[in-house]
Amino acid sequence: MILVTGGAGFIGANFVLDWTRQSDEAVLNIDKLTYAGNLGTLKPLQDNPAHVFARVDICDRAALDALFTQYKPRAVLHFAAESHVDRSIHGPGDFIQTNMVGTFTLLEAARHHWSTLPQAQKDAFRFLHVSTDEVFGSLAPADPAFSEITPYAPNSPYSASKAGSDHLVRAWHHTYGLPVLTTNCSNNYGPYQFPEKLIPLMIASALGGKQLPIYGDGQNVRDWLYVGDHCSAIREVLARGTPGETYNVGGWNEKKNLDVVHTLCDLLDEMRPKAAGSYRDQITYVKDRPGHDRRYAIDARKLERDLGWKPAETFETGLAKTVRWYLENQTWVDEVASGDYRKWVEINYMQRV
Ligand code: NAD
Ligand code: DAU
Repeated sequence: MILVTGGAGFIGANFVLDWTRQSDEAVLNIDKLTYAGNLGTLKPLQDNPAHVFARVDICDRAALDALFTQYKPRAVLHFAAESHVDRSIHGPGDFIQTNMVGTFTLLEAARHHWSTLPQAQKDAFRFLHVSTDEVFGSLAPADPAFSEITPYAPNSPYSASKAGSDHLVRAWHHTYGLPVLTTNCSNNYGPYQFPEKLIPLMIASALGGKQLPIYGDGQNVRDWLYVGDHCSAIREVLARGTPGETYNVGGWNEKKNLDVVHTLCDLLDEMRPKAAGSYRDQITYVKDRPGHDRRYAIDARKLERDLGWKPAETFETGLAKTVRWYLENQTWVDEVASGDYRKWVEINYMQRV
């Protein structure tokens, strides 16, 4: 079986749902169930014996050792992390704990398990670390996109903690020979994304008649990838990636934030028109995020050249699918937007206007 961490979060859950649709191989899904983890997302798997869920913190070495001993996974796919940049600015401690100490603890548990395997299983074992393009820092408008050899220059507590975890993973390969793979992906969007991130936040706020808060001048650029395409890239890297290598994942979809929000408003105007006016009327400019990276762009040619991977969705098809999903699944959004979520919205947006 495979072991997935963070499989109740946005990308991890999409990965587990896709995996169980495409493979008979069982999944051990471990997740601490922070505010970002939702078992409701995994409801389609509740009667599926190929999915085993354990509520475990990746910083808990004893619990990890027990699970490795019981289930003997042939691979680890490490999604679990604190993932929201704004939260890392308000409270960096959890990011250091989960992203760095948690990754270290998981690496040690995996290394111990791996060292007990017979040689053929040892050779076949993989530890795939899911990381981000934010570790490379910020690009000027004319800079080439990030490649696998772009030097690391993280700017936020979130990206610094992810960069630290990437370095640990690299060192565990170099020093101990653990067969690791690292993917650095651009911004994801799609079903089951927590409504603190730009796209689901804007959809939920638009439908709720609230303001659509654009940080700064709205000209920051992000490179967007549909979550299903990120999952297919991870499956390819797991199956055929070379241990010790890193792979950039992206869909060549650079967009300015304001353009993304305009497109979302236009899609909503079409699919769920307001009684009067456009959702664009709800757009408001708020104080910028401190240290806000100006531009990200991913050069994903290595993944295409070496493993033949290409995204299936364009930004237009992926975004239309996503808006439709949120319109049809408002109960999911209501369930995850609990009391804690409302507190976060107050903390993050109160001092911005
Ligand atoms: P998410 O915040 O939606 O989900 C994270 C999951 O990890 C949650 O289910 C949470 O409960 C779990 N978790 C947190 N701390 C844990 C701990 N100590 N022990 C066990 N579980 C814990 O995040 P996401 O957007 O799905 O991101 C998944 C991974 O992909 C992260 O590593 C992130 O850095 C990376 N990534 C995300 C994006 C993006 O655009 N969202 C892009 C590139 C890479
Ligand atoms: O690049 C990959 C990264 O993408 C992942 O590693 C992170 O886990 C993920 O959260 C994401 O980080 P960003 O900071 O780019 O995503 P976010 O959705 O928070 O913001 C996207 C852009 O939109 C960013 O420039 C800030 C802006 N923004 C965001 C929010 C929440 C706004 O203008 N208003 C908002 O209310």
